[in-house]
Amino acid sequence: MKEPKTTHVLFVCLGNICRSPAAQTVMEQLVADRGLAHAILCDSAGTYSGHTGEKADPRMRYAASRRGIDITHRARQVRSQDFDRFDMLVAMDDSNYDKLFRLAPTAEATDKIHRMCEFFGERFARDWDHVPDPYYEGSEGFELVLDMLEEGCANLLNELEAADKDK
Ligand code: 4NP
Repeated sequence: MKEPKTTHVLFVCLGNICRSPAAQTVMEQLVADRGLAHAILCDSAGTYSGHTGEKADPRMRYAASRRGIDITHRARQVRSQDFDRFDMLVAMDDSNYDKLFRLAPTAEATDKIHRMCEFFGERFARDWDHVPDPYYEGSEGFELVLDMLEEGCANLLNELEAADKDK
């Protein structure tokens, strides 16, 4: 019998208090809605250690809660061992992407690094090549990030499901 394989996805931003914990939670909710919680596990981390142990930014938690998304993650810094634990590391912007490249323990490990914008669709693919940092923005910055993550995570999940069917 085919051994069911769990796919582990790590979302990465700078502080791990705005974009990546939101991406993790949006994805976890989509995964649960499709009955795939046993097959796809998500986590998030930041390239910067300064917010380690903190809950997500209250502005992001508030914006997410209005969409029924409850972010409970505590921030942590990404580490090179994450390349052993995770099948995919999804960076929110070019700076996070470059830092992951520098952290990757082997050349093969770099194959696991992706950008969130790879999964943008109709609404965002044309105009955006990153998920913008909302930290110094107003509430509309957080809404934009959540809109992008809802579209991107749904497409990422579609790709993971399609890849699993091909196996
Ligand atoms: P994030 O946002 O990378 O989406 O979590 C930020 C959080 C904190 C800071 C910058 C961006 N900061 O400068 O502390």
